Amino acid sequence: MELKSGLTLSETRTRLRSAGQEHLLHFYAELDPHAQRALIEQIATIELERLPRLIDQYVRHKQPFTLPTRLEPAPYYARDARSWNRDQYRAKGEELLRAGKIAAFTVAGGQGTRLGFDGPKGTYFGTAVTRKPLFRCLAEWILSAHHRFQKTIPWYIMTSPLNHAETVAFFQHHAYFGLSERDVMFFSQGVLPSLDLKTGNLLLSEKGMVATNPDGHGGSLRALWTSGAIDDMKRRGVEHLSYVQIDNPLARVIDPVFIGLHAAAPDSSAEMSSKMVAKSDPAEKVGVFCRADAKTQVIEYSDLPREKMEERDPSGNLRFNAGSIAIHMISVDFVSRLNAGGELSLPLHRAEKKVPFVDPATGNTVQPTAPNAVKLEAFVFDALPLCRSSIVYETDRIDEFAPIKNADGNDSPATCRDIQTERAARWLEARGVLVPRSAVGKPECTIEISPLTAWDAQDLSRLTLPPAIPPNSELTL
Ligand code: UTP
Repeated sequence: MELKSGLTLSETRTRLRSAGQEHLLHFYAELDPHAQRALIEQIATIELERLPRLIDQYVRHKQPFTLPTRLEPAPYYARDARSWNRDQYRAKGEELLRAGKIAAFTVAGGQGTRLGFDGPKGTYFGTAVTRKPLFRCLAEWILSAHHRFQKTIPWYIMTSPLNHAETVAFFQHHAYFGLSERDVMFFSQGVLPSLDLKTGNLLLSEKGMVATNPDGHGGSLRALWTSGAIDDMKRRGVEHLSYVQIDNPLARVIDPVFIGLHAAAPDSSAEMSSKMVAKSDPAEKVGVFCRADAKTQVIEYSDLPREKMEERDPSGNLRFNAGSIAIHMISVDFVSRLNAGGELSLPLHRAEKKVPFVDPATGNTVQPTAPNAVKLEAFVFDALPLCRSSIVYETDRIDEFAPIKNADGNDSPATCRDIQTERAARWLEARGVLVPRSAVGKPECTIEISPLTAWDAQDLSRLTLPPAIPPNSELTL
Protein backbone atom coordinates (compact mmCIF):
# COMPACT_ATOMS: atom_id res chain seq x y z
CA MET A 1 0.00 0.00 0.00
CA GLU A 2 1.32 3.47 -0.86
CA LEU A 3 1.41 5.73 2.21
CA LYS A 4 1.77 9.50 2.68
CA SER A 5 5.51 9.15 3.12
CA GLY A 6 5.66 6.86 0.13
CA LEU A 7 7.11 4.11 2.33
CA THR A 8 5.70 0.58 2.45
CA LEU A 9 5.80 -1.77 5.42
CA SER A 10 8.63 -3.77 3.94
CA GLU A 11 10.69 -0.65 3.16
CA THR A 12 10.12 0.54 6.71
CA ARG A 13 11.20 -2.84 8.05
CA THR A 14 14.38 -2.69 5.97
CA ARG A 15 15.20 0.81 7.24
CA LEU A 16 14.58 -0.26 10.82
CA ARG A 17 16.60 -3.44 10.45
CA SER A 18 19.67 -1.60 9.22
CA ALA A 19 19.36 0.79 12.18
CA GLY A 20 18.87 -2.11 14.62
CA GLN A 21 15.38 -0.87 15.58
CA GLU A 22 13.11 -3.53 14.13
CA HIS A 23 11.44 -4.05 17.52
CA LEU A 24 9.32 -0.97 16.78
CA LEU A 25 7.19 -3.21 14.55
CA HIS A 26 6.79 -5.87 17.24
CA PHE A 27 3.06 -5.17 17.74
CA TYR A 28 2.34 -4.07 14.17
CA ALA A 29 0.13 -7.06 13.37
CA GLU A 30 -2.07 -6.30 16.43
CA LEU A 31 -2.82 -2.73 15.31
CA ASP A 32 -5.87 -1.69 13.31
CA PRO A 33 -5.14 -0.40 9.78
CA HIS A 34 -5.38 3.24 10.87
CA ALA A 35 -2.85 2.73 13.68
CA GLN A 36 -0.59 0.72 11.37
CA ARG A 37 -0.53 3.58 8.91
CA ALA A 38 0.14 6.11 11.66
CA LEU A 39 3.09 4.08 12.96
CA ILE A 40 4.68 3.77 9.51
CA GLU A 41 4.20 7.51 9.00
CA GLN A 42 5.75 8.31 12.36
CA ILE A 43 8.77 6.10 11.70
CA ALA A 44 9.18 7.78 8.31
CA THR A 45 9.74 11.12 10.08
CA ILE A 46 12.58 9.75 12.26
CA GLU A 47 16.08 10.23 10.88
CA LEU A 48 17.20 6.65 11.48
CA GLU A 49 20.46 7.27 9.64
CA ARG A 50 21.45 9.73 12.36
CA LEU A 51 20.72 7.28 15.19
CA PRO A 52 24.01 5.35 15.48
CA ARG A 53 25.91 8.61 15.94
CA LEU A 54 23.40 9.91 18.51
CA ILE A 55 23.49 6.64 20.45
CA ASP A 56 27.26 6.63 20.42
CA GLN A 57 27.59 10.27 21.49
CA TYR A 58 24.83 10.54 24.06
CA VAL A 59 24.10 7.03 25.36
CA ARG A 60 27.25 4.87 25.06
CA HIS A 61 29.58 7.77 25.79
CA LYS A 62 28.42 10.86 27.58
CA GLN A 63 30.27 13.34 25.44
CA PRO A 64 32.23 15.52 27.87
CA PHE A 65 31.82 19.27 27.62
CA THR A 66 34.97 21.06 26.53
CA LEU A 67 35.36 24.40 28.22
CA PRO A 68 36.77 26.94 25.78
CA THR A 69 40.24 28.10 26.64
CA ARG A 70 40.52 31.80 27.47
CA LEU A 71 36.98 32.08 28.77
CA GLU A 72 36.05 35.61 29.83
CA PRO A 73 32.84 37.02 31.27
CA ALA A 74 30.71 38.60 28.52
CA PRO A 75 30.49 42.39 28.71
CA TYR A 76 27.01 43.78 29.22
CA TYR A 77 24.97 46.98 29.17
CA ALA A 78 24.63 47.64 32.89
CA ARG A 79 21.35 48.64 34.54
CA ASP A 80 22.72 51.90 35.86
CA ALA A 81 23.22 53.02 32.22
CA ARG A 82 26.11 55.31 33.19
CA SER A 83 28.07 54.45 30.07
CA TRP A 84 25.18 54.38 27.61
CA ASN A 85 22.09 56.39 26.83
CA ARG A 86 18.93 54.55 27.85
CA ASP A 87 16.60 57.18 26.36
CA GLN A 88 18.27 56.98 22.98
CA TYR A 89 17.71 53.22 22.79
CA ARG A 90 14.18 53.44 24.18
CA ALA A 91 13.37 55.91 21.41
CA LYS A 92 14.84 53.53 18.82
CA GLY A 93 12.82 50.61 20.18
CA GLU A 94 9.62 52.67 20.18
CA GLU A 95 10.27 53.75 16.61
CA LEU A 96 10.54 50.10 15.52
CA LEU A 97 7.36 49.23 17.42
CA ARG A 98 5.42 52.08 15.81
CA ALA A 99 6.69 50.95 12.42
CA GLY A 100 5.30 47.43 13.00
CA LYS A 101 8.73 45.80 12.83
CA ILE A 102 8.46 43.85 16.08
CA ALA A 103 6.62 40.61 16.87
CA ALA A 104 6.36 38.67 20.12
CA PHE A 105 7.55 35.08 20.14
CA THR A 106 6.85 32.58 22.92
CA VAL A 107 8.13 29.05 23.24
CA ALA A 108 5.45 26.95 24.89
CA GLY A 109 6.22 23.45 23.68
CA GLY A 110 7.85 22.15 26.88
CA GLN A 111 6.49 19.27 28.92
CA GLY A 112 6.63 20.92 32.35
CA THR A 113 7.64 17.66 33.98
CA ARG A 114 9.19 19.32 37.02
CA LEU A 115 5.99 21.25 37.69
CA GLY A 116 4.03 18.05 37.28
CA PHE A 117 1.14 19.86 35.58
CA ASP A 118 -0.84 17.85 33.10
CA GLY A 119 -1.48 20.22 30.21
CA PRO A 120 0.24 23.05 28.34
CA LYS A 121 2.14 25.14 30.90
CA GLY A 122 0.60 28.30 29.49
CA THR A 123 -2.76 27.18 30.86
CA TYR A 124 -1.31 27.01 34.40
CA PHE A 125 -2.23 29.91 36.70
CA GLY A 126 0.37 32.63 36.81
CA THR A 127 -0.78 35.68 38.76
CA ALA A 128 -0.73 36.26 42.48
CA VAL A 129 -4.36 37.23 43.18
CA THR A 130 -6.65 36.46 40.25
CA ARG A 131 -4.78 33.36 39.10
CA LYS A 132 -4.74 34.38 35.45
CA PRO A 133 -3.22 31.69 33.22
CA LEU A 134 0.32 32.26 32.00
CA PHE A 135 -0.88 32.73 28.42
CA ARG A 136 -3.10 35.61 29.59
CA CYS A 137 -0.19 37.27 31.44
CA LEU A 138 1.76 37.49 28.19
CA ALA A 139 -1.31 38.36 26.09
CA GLU A 140 -2.06 41.36 28.33
CA TRP A 141 1.44 42.68 27.83
CA ILE A 142 1.08 42.38 24.06
CA LEU A 143 -2.35 44.01 24.13
CA SER A 144 -1.02 46.91 26.14
CA ALA A 145 1.95 47.33 23.74
CA HIS A 146 -0.59 47.42 20.93
CA HIS A 147 -2.45 50.28 22.69
CA ARG A 148 0.75 52.17 23.51
CA PHE A 149 2.30 52.06 20.07
CA GLN A 150 -0.91 52.00 18.04
CA LYS A 151 0.41 49.11 16.07
CA THR A 152 -0.37 45.43 15.95
CA ILE A 153 2.23 43.22 17.60
CA PRO A 154 1.82 39.78 15.99
CA TRP A 155 2.32 36.93 18.43
CA TYR A 156 3.95 33.66 17.33
CA ILE A 157 3.57 30.76 19.74
CA MET A 158 5.57 27.56 19.43
CA THR A 159 3.77 24.49 20.70
CA SER A 160 4.76 20.83 20.44
CA PRO A 161 2.85 18.02 18.73
CA LEU A 162 1.95 16.89 22.27
CA ASN A 163 0.19 20.11 23.32
CA HIS A 164 -0.67 21.92 20.07
CA ALA A 165 -4.38 21.14 19.85
CA GLU A 166 -4.98 21.82 23.54
CA THR A 167 -3.16 25.15 23.30
CA VAL A 168 -5.14 26.36 20.30
CA ALA A 169 -8.41 25.24 21.93
CA PHE A 170 -7.47 27.20 25.08
CA PHE A 171 -7.01 30.39 23.07
CA GLN A 172 -10.29 29.81 21.24
CA HIS A 173 -12.09 29.21 24.51
CA HIS A 174 -10.70 32.47 25.91
CA ALA A 175 -11.40 34.49 22.74
CA TYR A 176 -7.66 35.01 22.25
CA PHE A 177 -7.57 37.09 25.44
CA GLY A 178 -8.74 40.15 23.54
CA LEU A 179 -6.14 39.86 20.79
CA SER A 180 -7.15 39.47 17.19
CA GLU A 181 -7.19 35.82 16.12
CA ARG A 182 -5.54 36.92 12.86
CA ASP A 183 -2.48 38.10 14.74
CA VAL A 184 -1.84 35.04 16.91
CA MET A 185 -0.01 32.28 15.06
CA PHE A 186 0.68 28.80 16.43
CA PHE A 187 3.18 26.35 15.04
CA SER A 188 4.51 23.10 16.30
CA GLN A 189 8.15 22.27 17.00
CA GLY A 190 9.87 19.06 15.97
CA VAL A 191 10.42 15.99 18.11
CA LEU A 192 13.31 13.61 18.69
CA PRO A 193 13.00 9.99 19.74
CA SER A 194 13.72 9.21 23.39
CA LEU A 195 16.53 6.64 23.69
CA ASP A 196 16.73 3.72 26.09
CA LEU A 197 19.31 4.62 28.72
CA LYS A 198 21.06 1.25 28.59
CA THR A 199 20.91 0.27 24.92
CA GLY A 200 20.14 3.46 23.02
CA ASN A 201 17.19 1.70 21.38
CA LEU A 202 14.07 3.62 20.50
CA LEU A 203 11.11 2.99 22.81
CA LEU A 204 7.43 2.48 22.09
CA SER A 205 5.17 4.73 24.18
CA GLU A 206 2.21 2.73 22.86
CA LYS A 207 2.09 -0.38 20.74
CA GLY A 208 1.67 1.79 17.69
CA MET A 209 3.68 4.85 18.69
CA VAL A 210 7.37 5.61 19.13
CA ALA A 211 8.26 7.53 22.31
CA THR A 212 9.44 11.03 21.38
CA ASN A 213 10.08 14.30 23.14
CA PRO A 214 9.93 17.88 21.85
CA ASP A 215 13.33 18.87 20.47
CA GLY A 216 14.01 21.68 22.97
CA HIS A 217 13.50 25.44 22.80
CA GLY A 218 16.42 25.48 20.37
CA GLY A 219 14.12 23.60 17.99
CA SER A 220 12.32 26.92 17.59
CA LEU A 221 15.02 28.27 15.29
CA ARG A 222 14.25 25.53 12.80
CA ALA A 223 10.49 25.37 13.37
CA LEU A 224 10.15 29.13 12.78
CA TRP A 225 11.51 28.45 9.33
CA THR A 226 9.89 25.14 8.38
CA SER A 227 6.46 26.19 9.67
CA GLY A 228 6.34 29.22 7.38
CA ALA A 229 6.27 31.61 10.36
CA ILE A 230 9.31 33.47 9.00
CA ASP A 231 7.57 33.91 5.63
CA ASP A 232 4.53 35.28 7.45
CA MET A 233 6.77 37.76 9.30
CA LYS A 234 8.38 38.90 6.06
CA ARG A 235 4.94 39.46 4.53
CA ARG A 236 3.98 41.58 7.54
CA GLY A 237 7.23 43.56 7.53
CA VAL A 238 8.33 42.15 10.90
CA GLU A 239 12.12 42.37 11.37
CA HIS A 240 12.74 41.30 14.97
CA LEU A 241 11.24 38.86 17.45
CA SER A 242 11.01 39.42 21.16
CA TYR A 243 11.58 35.91 22.58
CA VAL A 244 10.23 34.93 26.00
CA GLN A 245 9.39 31.60 27.57
CA ILE A 246 5.92 30.74 28.75
CA ASP A 247 6.87 30.09 32.34
CA ASN A 248 8.00 33.58 33.39
CA PRO A 249 4.92 35.78 33.91
CA LEU A 250 7.11 38.75 34.87
CA ALA A 251 8.90 38.87 31.52
CA ARG A 252 8.64 42.23 29.77
CA VAL A 253 7.26 40.69 26.63
CA ILE A 254 7.88 43.90 24.74
CA ASP A 255 10.71 46.08 26.05
CA PRO A 256 11.55 49.17 23.97
CA VAL A 257 14.98 49.69 25.57
CA PHE A 258 16.06 46.11 24.88
CA ILE A 259 14.66 46.27 21.35
CA GLY A 260 16.58 49.50 20.71
CA LEU A 261 19.86 48.12 22.08
CA HIS A 262 19.52 44.95 20.03
CA ALA A 263 18.79 46.87 16.84
CA ALA A 264 21.14 49.82 17.20
CA ALA A 265 23.92 49.32 19.76
CA PRO A 266 27.30 49.78 18.04
CA ASP A 267 28.54 46.32 19.07
CA SER A 268 25.31 44.50 18.17
CA SER A 269 24.91 42.76 14.83
CA ALA A 270 21.14 42.93 15.53
CA GLU A 271 20.98 39.16 15.04
CA MET A 272 20.40 37.81 18.54
CA SER A 273 20.70 39.61 21.88
CA SER A 274 20.09 38.56 25.46
CA LYS A 275 19.02 39.79 28.87
CA MET A 276 20.83 38.87 32.06
CA VAL A 277 20.43 39.31 35.80
CA ALA A 278 23.25 39.38 38.33
CA LYS A 279 23.57 35.92 39.86
CA SER A 280 22.13 35.66 43.38
CA ASP A 281 25.03 33.49 44.56
CA PRO A 282 27.96 31.69 42.91
CA ALA A 283 26.14 28.35 42.81
CA GLU A 284 22.84 29.63 41.41
CA LYS A 285 21.68 27.17 38.74
CA VAL A 286 21.55 29.50 35.76
CA GLY A 287 23.67 29.58 32.62
CA VAL A 288 26.26 32.36 32.49
CA PHE A 289 27.06 34.69 29.59
CA CYS A 290 30.73 34.30 28.66
CA ARG A 291 33.02 35.38 25.85
CA ALA A 292 35.38 33.02 24.04
CA ASP A 293 37.04 33.57 20.66
CA ALA A 294 35.30 36.95 20.46
CA LYS A 295 31.88 35.24 20.60
CA THR A 296 29.19 35.54 23.25
CA GLN A 297 27.93 32.24 24.57
CA VAL A 298 26.06 30.75 27.51
CA ILE A 299 27.90 28.20 29.62
CA GLU A 300 25.51 26.05 31.60
CA TYR A 301 25.94 26.10 35.38
CA SER A 302 26.82 22.41 35.36
CA ASP A 303 29.66 23.06 32.87
CA LEU A 304 31.23 26.05 34.61
CA PRO A 305 34.09 24.87 36.84
CA ARG A 306 33.72 25.76 40.51
CA GLU A 307 36.79 28.00 40.56
CA LYS A 308 35.34 30.08 37.74
CA MET A 309 31.95 30.20 39.45
CA GLU A 310 33.55 31.64 42.55
CA GLU A 311 36.12 33.92 40.92
CA ARG A 312 35.83 37.56 42.06
CA ASP A 313 37.08 40.84 40.64
CA PRO A 314 39.19 43.28 42.72
CA SER A 315 35.98 44.90 44.06
CA GLY A 316 34.76 41.54 45.35
CA ASN A 317 32.04 41.02 42.72
CA LEU A 318 31.58 37.67 41.01
CA ARG A 319 33.39 37.76 37.66
CA PHE A 320 31.08 35.31 35.92
CA ASN A 321 28.02 37.12 37.14
CA ALA A 322 25.73 37.45 34.12
CA GLY A 323 22.95 34.89 34.63
CA SER A 324 20.84 34.01 31.61
CA ILE A 325 17.07 34.45 32.04
CA ALA A 326 16.10 33.14 28.61
CA ILE A 327 14.91 36.44 27.17
CA HIS A 328 16.24 37.35 23.74
CA MET A 329 15.73 39.52 20.70
CA ILE A 330 16.16 37.56 17.47
CA SER A 331 16.10 38.97 13.97
CA VAL A 332 14.10 37.46 11.14
CA ASP A 333 17.20 37.76 8.93
CA PHE A 334 19.27 35.76 11.42
CA VAL A 335 16.77 32.88 11.51
CA SER A 336 16.64 32.97 7.70
CA ARG A 337 20.43 32.90 7.44
CA LEU A 338 20.70 29.98 9.89
CA ASN A 339 18.27 27.94 7.82
CA ALA A 340 19.17 29.05 4.33
CA GLY A 341 22.18 26.75 4.07
CA GLY A 342 20.09 23.59 4.59
CA GLU A 343 19.23 21.94 7.82
CA LEU A 344 20.16 23.91 10.92
CA SER A 345 21.73 21.71 13.54
CA LEU A 346 22.47 23.07 16.98
CA PRO A 347 24.35 20.91 19.49
CA LEU A 348 22.15 18.54 21.50
CA HIS A 349 22.01 18.32 25.27
CA ARG A 350 21.15 15.09 27.06
CA ALA A 351 18.90 14.65 30.07
CA GLU A 352 18.00 11.40 31.80
CA LYS A 353 14.21 11.08 32.21
CA LYS A 354 11.52 8.64 33.24
CA VAL A 355 9.76 7.71 30.01
CA PRO A 356 6.84 5.23 30.17
CA PHE A 357 7.22 2.50 27.55
CA VAL A 358 5.64 -0.71 26.27
CA ASP A 359 7.66 -3.76 27.23
CA PRO A 360 8.16 -5.75 24.00
CA ALA A 361 8.21 -9.01 26.00
CA THR A 362 4.82 -8.57 27.69
CA GLY A 363 3.07 -5.78 25.79
CA ASN A 364 2.42 -4.03 29.12
CA THR A 365 3.12 -0.36 29.70
CA VAL A 366 5.88 0.17 32.25
CA GLN A 367 5.89 3.33 34.40
CA PRO A 368 9.56 3.62 35.39
CA THR A 369 10.40 4.76 38.90
CA ALA A 370 13.93 5.81 37.93
CA PRO A 371 15.23 7.47 34.74
CA ASN A 372 15.25 4.90 31.94
CA ALA A 373 15.72 7.08 28.88
CA VAL A 374 17.87 9.79 27.39
CA LYS A 375 16.02 12.83 26.08
CA LEU A 376 17.89 15.03 23.62
CA GLU A 377 17.16 18.72 23.24
CA ALA A 378 18.60 21.76 21.48
CA PHE A 379 18.91 25.02 23.42
CA VAL A 380 18.16 28.37 21.84
CA PHE A 381 21.16 30.11 23.39
CA ASP A 382 23.49 27.83 21.41
CA ALA A 383 22.74 30.07 18.43
CA LEU A 384 24.50 33.02 20.11
CA PRO A 385 28.02 32.07 18.90
CA LEU A 386 26.60 31.91 15.38
CA CYS A 387 25.96 35.67 15.47
CA ARG A 388 28.52 38.02 14.04
CA SER A 389 28.34 39.82 17.38
CA SER A 390 25.84 39.70 20.17
CA ILE A 391 25.09 41.96 23.12
CA VAL A 392 23.85 41.33 26.66
CA TYR A 393 21.66 43.75 28.62
CA GLU A 394 21.27 43.70 32.40
CA THR A 395 17.83 43.79 33.94
CA ASP A 396 16.57 43.63 37.51
CA ARG A 397 15.71 40.19 38.85
CA ILE A 398 12.65 41.36 40.78
CA ASP A 399 11.47 43.31 37.79
CA GLU A 400 11.63 40.50 35.32
CA PHE A 401 12.48 37.03 36.50
CA ALA A 402 10.10 34.73 38.37
CA PRO A 403 9.98 31.47 36.45
CA ILE A 404 7.63 28.65 37.39
CA LYS A 405 9.68 25.47 37.01
CA ASN A 406 9.08 23.32 40.09
CA ALA A 407 5.96 22.37 42.04
CA ASP A 408 7.54 23.74 45.22
CA GLY A 409 10.81 25.15 46.53
CA ASN A 410 12.87 27.38 44.23
CA ASP A 411 11.27 28.72 41.05
CA SER A 412 7.83 27.51 42.03
CA PRO A 413 4.33 29.06 41.87
CA ALA A 414 4.83 30.27 45.47
CA THR A 415 8.15 32.07 44.78
CA CYS A 416 6.66 33.50 41.59
CA ARG A 417 3.69 34.97 43.50
CA ASP A 418 6.06 36.43 46.13
CA ILE A 419 8.23 38.10 43.51
CA GLN A 420 5.19 39.52 41.71
CA THR A 421 4.00 41.06 44.98
CA GLU A 422 7.49 42.38 45.75
CA ARG A 423 7.71 44.05 42.35
CA ALA A 424 4.26 45.58 42.72
CA ALA A 425 5.08 46.70 46.28
CA ARG A 426 8.20 48.50 45.05
CA TRP A 427 6.26 50.30 42.35
CA LEU A 428 3.57 51.38 44.83
CA GLU A 429 6.16 52.51 47.39
CA ALA A 430 7.87 54.54 44.69
CA ARG A 431 4.53 56.37 44.36
CA GLY A 432 4.32 56.97 48.11
CA VAL A 433 1.93 54.14 49.02
CA LEU A 434 2.59 52.50 52.38
CA VAL A 435 2.98 48.74 51.92
CA PRO A 436 2.93 46.59 55.08
CA ARG A 437 6.15 44.61 55.45
CA SER A 438 7.30 42.02 57.98
CA ALA A 439 10.40 42.39 60.18
CA VAL A 440 12.48 40.83 57.41
CA GLY A 441 10.99 43.17 54.82
CA LYS A 442 8.57 40.80 53.10
CA PRO A 443 5.27 42.39 51.97
CA GLU A 444 2.42 41.31 54.24
CA CYS A 445 -0.16 41.48 51.50
CA THR A 446 -0.62 40.13 47.99
CA ILE A 447 -0.57 42.50 45.02
CA GLU A 448 -1.11 41.93 41.33
CA ILE A 449 -0.64 44.63 38.70
CA SER A 450 -1.67 43.88 35.13
CA PRO A 451 0.58 45.15 32.33
CA LEU A 452 -2.61 46.74 30.97
CA THR A 453 -2.41 49.01 34.03
CA ALA A 454 1.33 49.63 34.33
CA TRP A 455 4.72 48.55 33.00
CA ASP A 456 6.59 50.33 35.80
CA ALA A 457 6.18 52.63 38.80
CA GLN A 458 5.94 55.69 36.61
CA ASP A 459 2.84 54.38 34.86
CA LEU A 460 1.09 54.24 38.24
CA SER A 461 1.18 58.04 38.46
CA ARG A 462 -1.91 58.10 36.22
CA LEU A 463 -3.96 56.29 38.89
CA THR A 464 -5.50 57.39 42.15
CA LEU A 465 -3.79 55.11 44.62
CA PRO A 466 -4.70 54.39 48.25
CA PRO A 467 -2.33 55.93 50.83
CA ALA A 468 -1.71 52.52 52.40
CA ILE A 469 -2.37 48.85 51.76
CA PRO A 470 -4.07 47.10 54.70
CA PRO A 471 -2.03 44.19 56.14
CA ASN A 472 -3.01 40.73 54.85
CA SER A 473 -5.17 42.18 52.10
CA GLU A 474 -5.18 41.43 48.40
CA LEU A 475 -4.98 44.17 45.80
CA THR A 476 -5.43 43.95 42.05
CA LEU A 477 -4.64 46.86 39.77
P1 UTP B 1 12.19 24.17 30.30
O1 UTP B 1 13.58 23.94 29.89
O2 UTP B 1 11.98 24.69 31.65
O3 UTP B 1 11.39 22.82 30.06
O4 UTP B 1 11.53 25.10 29.23
P2 UTP B 1 9.89 22.42 30.34
O5 UTP B 1 9.65 21.35 29.36
O6 UTP B 1 8.92 23.55 30.35
O7 UTP B 1 9.91 21.84 31.81
P3 UTP B 1 10.58 20.47 32.34
O8 UTP B 1 12.05 20.59 32.06
O9 UTP B 1 9.91 19.35 31.62
O10 UTP B 1 10.24 20.50 33.81
C1 UTP B 1 11.79 26.46 29.16
C2 UTP B 1 10.87 27.03 28.10
O11 UTP B 1 11.13 26.43 26.85
C3 UTP B 1 9.96 25.85 26.33
C4 UTP B 1 9.06 25.62 27.53
O12 UTP B 1 7.71 25.55 27.13
C5 UTP B 1 9.38 26.84 28.38
O13 UTP B 1 8.71 27.97 27.88
N1 UTP B 1 10.31 24.59 25.66
C6 UTP B 1 11.09 23.68 26.27
C7 UTP B 1 9.79 24.36 24.41
O14 UTP B 1 9.05 25.19 23.85
N2 UTP B 1 10.10 23.19 23.81
C8 UTP B 1 10.90 22.26 24.37
O15 UTP B 1 11.15 21.22 23.74
C9 UTP B 1 11.41 22.51 25.64
